[in-house]
Amino acid sequence: MNNFTFYNPVKILFGKGQIARLAAEIPVTARILLTYGGGSIKANGVYDQVKAALAGHTVFEFGGIEPNPHLETLLKAVAVVRAENIDFLLAVGGGSVADGTKFIAAAARFAGDPWDILAKQAPITAAVPLGTVLTLPATGSEMNGTAVVTRAATQEKLYFGSPLVMPVFSVLDPETTFSLPPKQIGNGIVDAFTHVAEQYLTYPVGAPLQDRMAEAILKTLIEEGPKTLADPTDYAARANFMWCATMALNGLIGAGVPHDWATHTIGHELTALHGIDHGRTLAIVLPSVLALKRDSKRAKLLQYAERVWGITAGTEAERIDAAIGRTRAFFESVGVPTRLGDYGVPTETIPLIVERLENRGAVALGEHGDIDPAAVGKVLALSV
Ligand code: NZQ
Ligand code: ZN
Repeated sequence: MNNFTFYNPVKILFGKGQIARLAAEIPVTARILLTYGGGSIKANGVYDQVKAALAGHTVFEFGGIEPNPHLETLLKAVAVVRAENIDFLLAVGGGSVADGTKFIAAAARFAGDPWDILAKQAPITAAVPLGTVLTLPATGSEMNGTAVVTRAATQEKLYFGSPLVMPVFSVLDPETTFSLPPKQIGNGIVDAFTHVAEQYLTYPVGAPLQDRMAEAILKTLIEEGPKTLADPTDYAARANFMWCATMALNGLIGAGVPHDWATHTIGHELTALHGIDHGRTLAIVLPSVLALKRDSKRAKLLQYAERVWGITAGTEAERIDAAIGRTRAFFESVGVPTRLGDYGVPTETIPLIVERLENRGAVALGEHGDIDPAAVGKVLALSV
């Protein structure tokens, strides 16, 4: 097992009715900025629950954080934080609202150009404390210290991370997710699945506990995903899916093992250029990364084939093919197409993405750092 530091102080309040306990988690003297997206929380009653819980607090509001949150929008919220002396941020929504709020938290206490936090990975030395009320199980943002932000003007989608933007607490009430359209559930299943895959389908380092935890999440997603799609108000299925998504990216399964993240890096380019939802980009890219890197991932792909999909017959090559095929079929079965053509992406996009990654110095992706721009081109060619 590799050396690691594991730190996760995020307090999770999980289950029905937990929004009512919010007030106890935020100092009564706090000046809170409640951040949210395009209005889903007003339609499904979550906004009313949050406002009722915070009746005794001072609450300002900032709505309109879009999916794949824009730097341009978030900077407006930073101005509100500064003007109103906000000292607590409460993100209510999906991963985009949570991520955007993490950026607001860091940017409000950052002395230079906030874009440097993303483009230059400028160190964060302070951040406004934040909490989240999560309404979309997918990203794991509710229990980690990373965020992804898009500068709309240049179509660049970049991430940053800092323990200082880990939420103080996150409320996960599965009932808040009952209003999600099936498309977002499918996206969330694929996102959580791919988070696990990027920390599990690498090479063995003698970490059977992390492997089995990863396999447990994958198998639970395979079991519960279709159930929660079929019946959006099945509380048990939704709760299990929600906890899977959180556990997939809170650092636990990734401690002490190699990470890939090539699929996410390439996927972000597809979102930035074509506006494809995050989870959908992963469904396009992951099967092709596994296919291209099948030799260096051989041992883990065979383990995945057997333990997750029960594939034991055939040659090694046949079992690997079958496992990749089952992965693609699973994504399709939850309503997420897996080919560039399904989204109308022209092949001219492939050299453009290769060039953009090259210009940014993202030339050594994957757990071995051997996915160079030419290999990214091959991955995308396999996704046509
Ligand atoms: O904006 P509103 O009106 O709230 O509507 C949202 C949005 O249109 C809607 N929605 C959310 N909860 C709902 C709901 N609609 C009905 N009922 C509900 N309960 O869903 C739409 C999508 O929301 P969004 O937050 O964009 O989706 P998601 O949670 O998938 O977040 C995606 C963002 O997270 C980033 C992605 O890159 C993308 O920008 N990620 C963040 C990560 C992290 N912080 O660790 C890791 C991930 O790999 C990912 O990169
Ligand atoms: Zn993701």
